[in-house]
Amino acid sequence: MNDQALQPPDPAADATTHGAVNTNTRKVFVKTYGCQMNVYDSARMTDALAADGYSETTVLEDADLVLLNTCHIREKAAEKVYSELGRLRDMKKAKNAEGREFVIGVTGCVAQAEGKEILRRAPAVDLVVGPQTYHRLPQVLRDVREGRKAVETDYSLEDKFEHLPSPEKAVTKSRGPTAFLTVQEGCDKFCTFCVVPYTRGSEVSRPLAQIVDEAKKLAGAGVRELTLLGQNVNAWHGTDADGNAIGLGELIAAIAEIDGLDRLRYTTSHPRDMDDRLIAAHATQSKLMPYLHLPVQSGSDRILKAMNRKHTAADYLALVRRIRAVNPELALSGDFIVGFPGETDEDFEDTMRLIEEVGYAQAFSFKYSPRPGTPGADLPDHVPEEMKSERLDRLQTLLFKQQRDFARACVGKTIDLLLEKEGRMEGQLVGRSPWLQPVIIDAKTTKSGDKLKIGDIIKVRITEAGPNSLFAEVAES
Ligand code: SAH
Ligand code: SF4
Ligand code: F3S
Repeated sequence: MNDQALQPPDPAADATTHGAVNTNTRKVFVKTYGCQMNVYDSARMTDALAADGYSETTVLEDADLVLLNTCHIREKAAEKVYSELGRLRDMKKAKNAEGREFVIGVTGCVAQAEGKEILRRAPAVDLVVGPQTYHRLPQVLRDVREGRKAVETDYSLEDKFEHLPSPEKAVTKSRGPTAFLTVQEGCDKFCTFCVVPYTRGSEVSRPLAQIVDEAKKLAGAGVRELTLLGQNVNAWHGTDADGNAIGLGELIAAIAEIDGLDRLRYTTSHPRDMDDRLIAAHATQSKLMPYLHLPVQSGSDRILKAMNRKHTAADYLALVRRIRAVNPELALSGDFIVGFPGETDEDFEDTMRLIEEVGYAQAFSFKYSPRPGTPGADLPDHVPEEMKSERLDRLQTLLFKQQRDFARACVGKTIDLLLEKEGRMEGQLVGRSPWLQPVIIDAKTTKSGDKLKIGDIIKVRITEAGPNSLFAEVAES
């Protein structure tokens, strides 16, 4: 089980980099921590900087500007950023001594939460920009070059999405057959453990037309699978062309009409926002993949209440039954927190029971990490560290067994596979199953001899279930 926020493929704790290299211009190196929304934001920031003459590099030493796009979800995440900043400070000294520019920027949720504090703890940092103000990055950089350190963490009154350049160019350049599209940002739920409502602000939905327009551009650039993103994606709401109120179910239907897009996903959902029309979409929208990330956090009503989740374990189980009734193929994934303040053995056993009852195909689980400024941090009865570790161990053993059982049950099935990239071994291609499992094939052609390429959707038969991936062979289409 990964220690990860939201869901694969981007671990919260581990950073990813991306981009293409160019010469003769200033270069930006972006390191992305956290959830998929940060991955999406990093791409949009590089687009904004490209318009200002920056090309992206994946080689840190070549960079004139480094952006750490940070995550604040757990304590460890912010500490990792500070230690990375220590390394960058040394690099900056060395580069400046050679007369070279080396600008260090912190963006993302740590930037939003810590603001000026970052400049105090890490004086080598030149700019701090929160997630709502990325469109101002080019101006901020000009300020930095004129010698002014900049901190931009206001919740912007402008719509950053309207001010950021369109993603289409960058997509054609490097983003392959899958893409993220943020449709909703922020959160008004205020779960007592969580920093997101403070770092991302209150819930905002992007308008239907703006989303459809971006989805079309992505499809035009070769994207075949689109994952709609939001901290609370199923709280998305908007109006259709006739002015009727619509929700995520209708948004999915509108995007499903776009030619070229074949597979749709969305993440992350809150159990309270799974309305009937969204549930129905899992039966009626054939492009919608049969996989749903639906975090519950705990199976104890007492703890759910203390977490301010505003639903009970029974509500969640009833919801799962309703969703599975419309689509029995659907696999579930979830997030769990162990050791929330006041969690007793009995509360923990309730969580284990809920997991047994649901049966997850995939899950992410974490020890509770007190976040300053959230109500949970001030609660009495914090659970000792060893107890958290013991509980996490037991919980992950169960979840991992469920994940393996689910994978083994896939063996023998013929599925559609979207080829996403070359495998690690020569001749391998890797894609994802409808249930988001990585699937590896050892083949270069279809049965009829046509060459396989990244972006193809092919029929494969699952032959073997490894611990983290499935293996498959090409089937007759
Ligand atoms: N919006 C999503 C998830 C946001 S954060 C939702 O509502 O489910 C992703 C996951 O990180 C959460 O689901 C939770 O399991 C975990 N998480 C958030 N804050 C945490 C904390 N303080 N300690 C441990 N895990 C936490
Ligand atoms: Fe955090 Fe809860 Fe909002 Fe999810 S719903 S982002 S866990 S406050
Ligand atoms: Fe982390 Fe911010 Fe995402 S805190 S999980 S990067 S919304």
